[in-house]
Amino acid sequence: MAVTMHGRRVMVTGGAGFIGVHSVEALLEAGAEVLVIDDLRHASYRPLPGAARLEVADVAEGTARTAIEEWQPTAILHLAAQGGVNRSWREPTMDAHINVLGTVSVLAAAMASGCRRVVVASSGGALYGAARRLPTPEDEPAQPRSPYGTAKLSIEHYLGHFTRAGAIDALALRYGNVYGPGQDGTGEAGVVAISSRRLLEGRAPVIRGDGAQTRDFTYVGDVVAANVLGLNSTVTGAFNVGTGSETAIGDLVRRLCELAGYRGEPEREPLPPGEVARSALDNSLAAERLGWSPAVSLDDGLARTLESFRTQVS
Ligand SMILES: NC(=O)c1ccc[n+]([C@@H]2O[C@H](COP(=O)([O-])OP(=O)(O)OC[C@H]3O[C@@H](n4cnc5c(N)ncnc54)[C@H](O)[C@@H]3O)[C@@H](O)[C@H]2O)c1
Repeated sequence: MAVTMHGRRVMVTGGAGFIGVHSVEALLEAGAEVLVIDDLRHASYRPLPGAARLEVADVAEGTARTAIEEWQPTAILHLAAQGGVNRSWREPTMDAHINVLGTVSVLAAAMASGCRRVVVASSGGALYGAARRLPTPEDEPAQPRSPYGTAKLSIEHYLGHFTRAGAIDALALRYGNVYGPGQDGTGEAGVVAISSRRLLEGRAPVIRGDGAQTRDFTYVGDVVAANVLGLNSTVTGAFNVGTGSETAIGDLVRRLCELAGYRGEPEREPLPPGEVARSALDNSLAAERLGWSPAVSLDDGLARTLESFRTQVS
């Protein structure tokens, strides 16, 4: 049954970004009133629906806190973040400022405005590091291997603190590698978007290392469904949001080449330091506690993504 959010006032931080715009579309569709807080530093090319209100503000600053306290949301979906793992190595202070301080600021504002429900984007791959168990369950010890992963772990500790204090009911969703229409294909992260864009421009895709490293590729529509279910629930803690399946980067790029009709060889680049060798997320807890499971197969998701980039590139 489709989730209904009539009468709910949902604030989405980072709502102009890749996962944000899809989430805003789904929330409006479900009947919610939506206010987006985003400073637009990495907005998606996918336009924000006109029915959503936009407040251009940095989540770590006072204007965002004031907007939350004035608008009094009934729930907050906190997506705003510096999302680049490599960038977090180059600029760890900036990463901590946005990802840790920005989140603490949003949580404090939620508490001050009496908003009990907060759902926050975390990251399975960045949090578990070199996990012993695959697919990895939530009780695997977190061993982040980057400032970005360390920030996500700190955020989860803050969510636990605010929840135990009785101030809010917070849920962290540990996403897999999210892909789909609207993702930025011009940066250094997001292999599906980057490869799709290169292929449609007639350029060879790039594989880092031998391409045997695996990731849990999760379609954005499935991640959005988990966000909406999370906002509509009162469960707390941290749940994986992934498919449970590993896909090697080399295989993924080959599938995209086939879909795009590209016959050349991929280019090779060295593997950046600290890259996790294997990643897949056990999704049984989200199934049990949220009633969530992924619905879009990798082949279907890749075809939809490539098609959406076709209109972008042409
Ligand atoms: N894309 C993935 O594969 C993936 C995987 C795991 C977790 N996540 C998490 O999901 C969330 C959303 O990711 P995304 O892929 O949509 O990223 P994105 O970069 O496309 O979107 C992030 C949005 O936040 C905004 N933003 C950044 N810093 C801000 C600030 N200080 N104040 C206000 N707005 C700010 C950007 O302008 C952008 O619109 C992030 O928290 C990210 O860490 C993403």
